[in-house]
Amino acid sequence: MSLPKKIKIYEVGPRDGLQNEKQIVPTDVKVGLIDRLSKTGLTAIEATSFVSPKWVPQMGDASDVMAKIARQDGISYPVLVPNEKGMEAAIAAGVTEIAVFAAASEMFSQKNINCSIEESIARFRPVVKMAEDSNIAVRGYVSCVAGCPYQGDVRSERVAEVAAELYEMGCYEISLGDTIGVGTPPIIGQVIYDTLELVPVNALALHCHDTYGLALGNIYQGLTMGVSVIDSAVAGLGGCPYAKGASGNVATEDVLYFMDRLGIETGVDMDGILDAARYITDALGRTPSSKTACALA
Ligand code: HMG
Ligand code: MG
Repeated sequence: MSLPKKIKIYEVGPRDGLQNEKQIVPTDVKVGLIDRLSKTGLTAIEATSFVSPKWVPQMGDASDVMAKIARQDGISYPVLVPNEKGMEAAIAAGVTEIAVFAAASEMFSQKNINCSIEESIARFRPVVKMAEDSNIAVRGYVSCVAGCPYQGDVRSERVAEVAAELYEMGCYEISLGDTIGVGTPPIIGQVIYDTLELVPVNALALHCHDTYGLALGNIYQGLTMGVSVIDSAVAGLGGCPYAKGASGNVATEDVLYFMDRLGIETGVDMDGILDAARYITDALGRTPSSKTACALA
């Protein structure tokens, strides 16, 4: 069994992390977080979402955030886009990468984006076309790959089908999301196994929420199968407003510690991530809850 020598960490804290905060986080705090993360060696920082502010008020300042951050060469600042309206705003904000987000669960698709899975795929096609015309890279998410807060079980074959549709549509990478953190290594292993029938391993990423503390085990499972892009959130921020009970994403600092112990290169500086973790948790009025931040405090 061989593990990758190097992985890419795709930081989702400013988006997936903050979208679930009840109190509106000031734009300058979001910008302060992203600018700190930009100094850590990360090459992808998901910055915000161009979604309906009626649905996710916290992301209502997306254009302002994109205007105020100090974008650095060599770092991509992707944003979530659900439809053509969001794409128009994202283009106006000068984004260079977007992410469209589908689900493997019908009920989650309805609750999260108010349409069926097939309708969402049809809705993303013109978005991807607009992106291609503007030279914007497109990533795709599949949510609820290990279970759904509304319908329970999700079939791994369904995950693979949705992933393949997004890949064939033009998404360069498909992030498999365990939205509510109910995956275990055997479940995640089956999901990846089935998805690999239809999507190449170098186009797969894993997006684990750490609800039951199983995220690092699930990530290890992915690494053994060749996945080398891992989504994580500084300070373990997060959750999804349409997935009740979903706790934060796996903490970036926990992933960094684990990769270091495995001898896997990330290119990301632990001290810089811990600094960003302290900055955002101070602003939110709490202390960093990740195991690593506690252990190294
Ligand atoms: P809808 O209500 O069906 O859409 O929502 P609509 O077209 O009827 O629009 C409703 C209102 O929103 C209208 O305003 C639109 O103009 C406006 P009104 O006319 O009433 O004044 N609107 C917009 N405004 C700004 N930007 C837009 C936009 N679109 C419509 N892009 C819609 C459908 C998709 C818009 C809505 O359901 C939505 O925005 N959902 C987003 C939900 C979300 O962000 N969820 C969290 C992200 S997913 C996640 O966290 C999982 C992930 O992390 C992976 C994992 O963990 O597994 C990615
Ligand atoms: Mg998520």
